[in-house]
Amino acid sequence: MRAKIIGLGSHVPPKVVTNQDLSKFVDTNDEWIRTRTGIEERRLSDENTSTFDLAKVAAQKALERSKIDPEKLDLIIVGTTTPDTLFPSVSTMLQDHLKTPNAAAFDVSAACSGFNFALSTAAAYVESGSYKNILVVGADTLTKYLDWKDRGTCVLFGDGAGAVMLTSTEERDRGILASVLGAKGEGGKHLIMPGGGSRDPEEKNGRFITMNGKEVFKFAVWALEHSVTEVVKKAGMTLNNIDLLIPHQANIRIINHVVKKFNLPESKVYVNLQKYGNTSAASVPLALDEAFSDGKIKEGDVVVLAGFGAGLTYGANLIRW
Ligand code: UT7
Repeated sequence: MRAKIIGLGSHVPPKVVTNQDLSKFVDTNDEWIRTRTGIEERRLSDENTSTFDLAKVAAQKALERSKIDPEKLDLIIVGTTTPDTLFPSVSTMLQDHLKTPNAAAFDVSAACSGFNFALSTAAAYVESGSYKNILVVGADTLTKYLDWKDRGTCVLFGDGAGAVMLTSTEERDRGILASVLGAKGEGGKHLIMPGGGSRDPEEKNGRFITMNGKEVFKFAVWALEHSVTEVVKKAGMTLNNIDLLIPHQANIRIINHVVKKFNLPESKVYVNLQKYGNTSAASVPLALDEAFSDGKIKEGDVVVLAGFGAGLTYGANLIRW
């Protein structure tokens, strides 16, 4: 049994913030942001829009496009580190909103790797025969946790959501063929949201993302190269078999490092970070939905999704479409 994708959806808030806009209130400029990150603009949710609000639109689209009866949904998994509340989870909010009474629901916390972790978990449930129809979502609103005076972080992130509907197939060579997940907890200190958890419920240490950009950059380059190499090997393939690589959209320089090393043509790598910045767990499913809508994925293609992020964590999934 394999898990294959039969519906996709994504959603971003309407408000566009350009590099130029940021340079009006923080000491930065369009040239620096473009050359160091590749980002040109990002989307920001307003104060009335939560992670669930973005996730529900993406999830609804994926569910509708899959044509699966909501009653037949077995499980909802959401990758997020910016849930509306510590509990209930975003996934249970979706379970209610989408009217899927027979679905179990839980969130996965793996920061920017969250969607790859959730997808791999869902695939394992399908392969084991435990569940048939699973909705997997990646959604985050990290811009609500930015220190707008810290130019080292506030220019990087944006908000968004992406979702896929999975169903089981008897075809052995279709769907998610291999997954690789990993963590390097010793590097956790390099990317932290210190406030709001049980160590600091009153957020005395602030509720802002703090990052050692250089350390995370080094890890990201290693993690992307390692996870893609391993997932391809696990599927019994080589890098030449990849038709489309969809990496986590954090920084074009991280992507270019790895693409150069792999000698992959540009046409085989999907990049949309110029429009959205780093949308954390939403980044990969948002890019996947766009790539599919753009006609960049056809039946039989080998698509590799790869992410890395706080934890530190990394994960990749190889899909035969
Ligand atoms: O999902 C995972 C999340 N995170 C990532 O993937 C981030 C990984 N790291 C990165 O992408 C990069 O490290 C950054 C984009 C965050 C920073 O790029 P960098 O090339 O490592 O720059 P840097 O931190 O070494 O800073 C170089 C200079 C510094 O000035 P001095 O000390 O050389 O005078 C910074 O103060 O650039 C300055 N700088 C800026 N200047 C204008 C840092 N941020 C900015 C900015 N605008 N926004």
